[in-house]
Amino acid sequence: MTDKNKFTLGVLTSGGDAPGMNATIRAVVRTALFHDATVLGVMSGFEGLINGEYRTLGARDVGGILQRGGTILQTRRSQRFFEKSYQREAIRNMSLAGMDGLIIIGGEGSMRGAHALAEQGIKVIGIPASIDNDIWGTNMAVGVDTAMNTIMDAVDKLRDTASSHSRAFLIETMGRGCGYLAVMAGIVCGAEIVLIPEVPTTVEEVASSLEDAYRRGKTHAIVIVAEGANIKTTELSQAIDAMDVGFKTRVTILGHIQRGGGPTAFDRILAARLGSAAVQAILAGETDVMVGLKGQSTELIPFIQVMGHQRAANMEYYEMARKLAR
Ligand code: F6P
Repeated sequence: MTDKNKFTLGVLTSGGDAPGMNATIRAVVRTALFHDATVLGVMSGFEGLINGEYRTLGARDVGGILQRGGTILQTRRSQRFFEKSYQREAIRNMSLAGMDGLIIIGGEGSMRGAHALAEQGIKVIGIPASIDNDIWGTNMAVGVDTAMNTIMDAVDKLRDTASSHSRAFLIETMGRGCGYLAVMAGIVCGAEIVLIPEVPTTVEEVASSLEDAYRRGKTHAIVIVAEGANIKTTELSQAIDAMDVGFKTRVTILGHIQRGGGPTAFDRILAARLGSAAVQAILAGETDVMVGLKGQSTELIPFIQVMGHQRAANMEYYEMARKLAR
């Protein structure tokens, strides 16, 4: 039972999990309790809203989770939530639970779901959390920095073995249709080649760059391939091996390892800042906005703007990665 005189805040995590989601939940709960609100944790994202699965979260319920990957609230990709009838069901359950507002922690699709609720009169604030960094309106989403560090550790190790065997490693990073992680990985890992969805390329171009690197005396080559790139990693490997460019290739698909692990210091601070800002905003009556990081400050960005823009890889950084690959 919730106290009628207190603001009752729901919080959920949605979409793909990202390191730092737990730190964000903790920041939301502790800030809300500080402001004397009651917090209901909604289980399994929008599915939990539809099914009415909540539990009250106190200060101790979010103790010891700051450093943990994953999400204590569980997460789902809910397709049915995009249907009006299920949204109505969710709103009905929220009203029965006495929820006055909701904070949604998730990626781009989750912000769309959040906007759909706001349009029907629910007070909603979004917090960007996705390793892809494809959400418009924030420099960084929670989880990106940790994923980047995971990629960096993996590529550093792969380079050791690549050098020993004079091989080219084709390393696939996540990121859906956005090349952000791949471009940044190219810079922080000193990759010879970066393939991203934003810049289509051909097998011949990649082969020629690898051959050139071999001729210039490189002992290995690191090729970072964004999962959304126009050439698939394993096909690229087979094609290059058939061409004899000097290096033989090996493929490593980093996959979901990029989504796991405890958050970095950067992600913990970002989680604390966005979590606190979101609660303060909702208690001040704000709705239909995402809280994002702009420069050094947190800002509120209308969902409609977030949804209306596509966030691509930064081409300046892409060019820098190419120049530094000599
Ligand atoms: O959005 C995060 C992400 O990890 C993408 O990079 C990737 O394309 C997708 O989720 C994988 O989704 P799932 O975990 O449902 O397989």
